[in-house]
Amino acid sequence: MEHIIVLDFGGQYNQLIARRVRECGVFAEVLPSTASPDRLKGREGLKGIILTGGPDSVYAQGSQQLPDHVLSLGVPILGICYGMQALLWRLGGQVAPAEAGEFGHTSITYADHPLFMGMEGLPVWMNHNDRVTALPAGFSTIAKTALCPIAAAADDARKLYAVQFHPEVHHTQEGLQLFKNFLFNICRCAGGYSPADLAGELIQNIRDQVGSAPVLSALSGGVDSSVASVLVHKAIGDRLQCVFVDHGLLRQNEAQEVLSFYRDSLGMNVHFVDASDRFLEKLKGVSDPEQKRKIIGTEFIRVFEEEARRLGGDYLVQGTIYPDVIESGLGKSAVIKSHHNVGGLPENVEFKGLVEPLRLLFKDEVRALGSSLGIPDHLIWRQPFPGPGLAVRVMGEITREKLEVVRRSDAIFREEIKNAGLERSIWQYFTVYTGVRTVGVMGDSRTYDSVVALRAVLSTDAMTVEAAELPYPLLSKVSNRIINEVPGCNRVVYDITSKPPGTIEWE
Ligand code: XMP
Repeated sequence: MEHIIVLDFGGQYNQLIARRVRECGVFAEVLPSTASPDRLKGREGLKGIILTGGPDSVYAQGSQQLPDHVLSLGVPILGICYGMQALLWRLGGQVAPAEAGEFGHTSITYADHPLFMGMEGLPVWMNHNDRVTALPAGFSTIAKTALCPIAAAADDARKLYAVQFHPEVHHTQEGLQLFKNFLFNICRCAGGYSPADLAGELIQNIRDQVGSAPVLSALSGGVDSSVASVLVHKAIGDRLQCVFVDHGLLRQNEAQEVLSFYRDSLGMNVHFVDASDRFLEKLKGVSDPEQKRKIIGTEFIRVFEEEARRLGGDYLVQGTIYPDVIESGLGKSAVIKSHHNVGGLPENVEFKGLVEPLRLLFKDEVRALGSSLGIPDHLIWRQPFPGPGLAVRVMGEITREKLEVVRRSDAIFREEIKNAGLERSIWQYFTVYTGVRTVGVMGDSRTYDSVVALRAVLSTDAMTVEAAELPYPLLSKVSNRIINEVPGCNRVVYDITSKPPGTIEWE
């Protein structure tokens, strides 16, 4: 498969570079700048290299340098920001601190060059202190800004290119076009990569890794663990055993839906563990949010360890995806975030290894791959659901009655969002048992019941969010239905807090 290697010099936006290249229909992989010559050479279909930004100064001692073997690969190279400086410095150019750094939107003038084909010259995003002050032989300047006379350079004969700005961030409005120009005009890629193409290779890799050994998977019902497990099941069939733990904090009908899909539609071995009594018992009398989380995390691991010992399995399937891998540091072994599943990896169960078939995929690619494997849309497009489940949506102590209020109101809210056709456009939507009681009147009687809050947020990564501006008639219908259909609730409010300062969940 044709592909691009993104050599990582430690910049903040490196993931985005791979992301943009894949958006253009060419597979891209991020490797550390120190990757061995064999790691680069051994790759068939290599069409080009992109050097990322990074925090170093090329002239400083100990800074990351561009290795010679990268230049001898004979494929086109595009250096971005620090990557530009590393490339030109290696070839004999000069790099020095700029009189003034350039940060943010910057006007730019492009020369007529294939790298800028179809680009008008809209502002680009700059983020640098150093700049190239003299070009090596063979290069010419192909863009400039007010503060940066060499904002891009090219040596067409050797197919070496460099830009000081960041085409990978959205603020550079024509950045995607620059990647297309590099990939298709310069590297001569054919394009057409789609995550679905990876299925065959991923399945074969799983077979090669685990041989004839038994494998265990913890299904959470979320998209990552589902797609990973379906791939493993396609690779080794019944040698995969899945465990699905009901901690008593799932949404309405969730356990049945997840189980019936895996068992009935896919014929997978799923061991259902109803541990709800056990969890709810441990949570009795506990109202501190962090303590609740800890209890659930620990208990989840205990249940899973018991199942793992009973069922056995040499390997454990994890739904780790590319951002997790990149965030945990390239080249190091996978560090599973404690957030990832309910409480991280079991400590007392030994596995020979982890099976992480989605390690190189972004979330939207996981979804596309999942669809191509026949996983239905309602599973693929499930909204994120926190590991501790409804525990973080019932304020204070958890009781079965409060869980029932949150479950029933949440089911109504989800149904109405679906009826309004808003399912895919809202990042997360759910209800919260606020723990506040208010006076109301129903029929001719006074009520003194609970307040339920609705939360619906827009986001692309859960790091920052805006409250969704839901249509008033929808809010009003949901409110009426909840008050009429959910015993114990007499008032509904809508949470319009963004993140920051709020968070998505209430606890
Ligand atoms: P917050 O509330 O921090 O949530 O804005 C960000 C995203 O993470 C989810 N979330 C969790 N997921 N374990 C998880 O697996 C947790 O403890 C947890 N807490 C929050 C939340 O639903 C949102 O998508």
